[in-house]
Amino acid sequence: MSTNGVDLNGHGIKNTPYLSENQSQAFLAAHADEAPPAGKKLKVCVGGGGGFIGSYIAKRLMAEGCYVVAADWKENEFMKPQEFCHEFHNFDLRILENCKKVTDGCHHVYNLAADMGGMGFILSNQSVLLYNNTMISFNMLEAARQNGAKRFFYSSTACVYNEDLQKDPENPGLAEHMAWPAKPQDGYGLEKLYAEEMALAYAQDFPLKVRVARYHNVYGPRGTWKGGREKVPAAFCRKACASETEFEVWGDGKQTRSFMFIDDCVHGSIKLMYSDCGIPLNLGTDEMIDMNAFAKLAMGTRGKDLPIKNVPGPLGVMGRNSDNTMIKEKLGWAPSISIKDGMQVTCDWIHDQIQQEAATASQDLAKYGTSEVVVQKTDTLDALDRKSVV
Ligand SMILES: NC(=O)c1ccc[n+]([C@@H]2O[C@H](COP(=O)([O-])OP(=O)(O)OC[C@H]3O[C@@H](n4cnc5c(N)ncnc54)[C@H](O)[C@@H]3O)[C@@H](O)[C@H]2O)c1
Repeated sequence: MSTNGVDLNGHGIKNTPYLSENQSQAFLAAHADEAPPAGKKLKVCVGGGGGFIGSYIAKRLMAEGCYVVAADWKENEFMKPQEFCHEFHNFDLRILENCKKVTDGCHHVYNLAADMGGMGFILSNQSVLLYNNTMISFNMLEAARQNGAKRFFYSSTACVYNEDLQKDPENPGLAEHMAWPAKPQDGYGLEKLYAEEMALAYAQDFPLKVRVARYHNVYGPRGTWKGGREKVPAAFCRKACASETEFEVWGDGKQTRSFMFIDDCVHGSIKLMYSDCGIPLNLGTDEMIDMNAFAKLAMGTRGKDLPIKNVPGPLGVMGRNSDNTMIKEKLGWAPSISIKDGMQVTCDWIHDQIQQEAATASQDLAKYGTSEVVVQKTDTLDALDRKSVV
């Protein structure tokens, strides 16, 4: 593994010279007052480190010389713990005691843990998601404070924005101030907005530097691609691989979004953590695309051009894009990997996953041509008792 980070993820995306930056070393060189004692590594906790974005951030920080503690209530599906962290703790982060154990002695805490998924999950699982994510966000933050962490990163979302500003598919871009007055479309966005505020209040009241990123649809290899929690990019890649006669799209396909490739997300998250920016920042691309065009783009990665079949399904808002004025001003950088390049890599990876599955079990490819809505279950709430404390 290259420690200077050049194409560390092996994605082969071109035109991303920033991937060679060792941001952790540069940060420590510039912040002697925040550096650990001589001979010690910067100790970092990544909550949700078993998940998609968390595991990439953990891997990158480890390659940049940090001591990484990852915590999650499930292991990463695609990597062994030693590939992305020094310690992995299989803990329920809704419990304060568990959060305190995993953040013990950590200089920096990244909270990427959340009960989440795409539209087929968040709109049909509001109560459970509200409870679980509120508990995680509050307890990770409080644990970081009690353990004297210097910096705290919170992964928020574009879902915090006021739904009245997202009725037009030609959305010119949501600037950071547009989250208020608040009217997120669903509980997921509201819970994230409240958790942002709580983290910002901690930054005001305590010696804890808080950094908040509002992610706009992150995708890439090693993300969830089946089962109902997957988001649009992975679902479209899967359909592009599996569909033979038509391509299913929820709604009329005119709804728009922007999508950020994982390498940009990792770089931007660490860059923000190490910056002086104490206000929430959009972290997304401003390359907006409607779902019908996005479906065509996904099919193009597999050399297909099937007719699109628009079917009823959960939609979310009609138009969403990232306004990147603020991130350029604050970080002098913005995500730049094109959706075409990112989707090619992602669809190739999902194609390989499907091939591997086919090699080991009989496969019903037809089911991969549709998306499902996840019915809410209360098993995670029912399991919430003293037994959750590890
Ligand atoms: N992927 C996106 O497009 C996107 C967009 C906006 C915001 N975000 C935010 O970024 C963060 C990471 O998202 P992701 O895409 O990597 O999702 P993910 O589901 O892959 O990762 C989240 C991880 O949190 C873990 N987790 C959930 N509840 C837990 C608990 N009680 N205890 C311990 N671990 C728990 C999950 O097991 C999972 O591994 C989340 O906070 C999410 O809300 C993601």
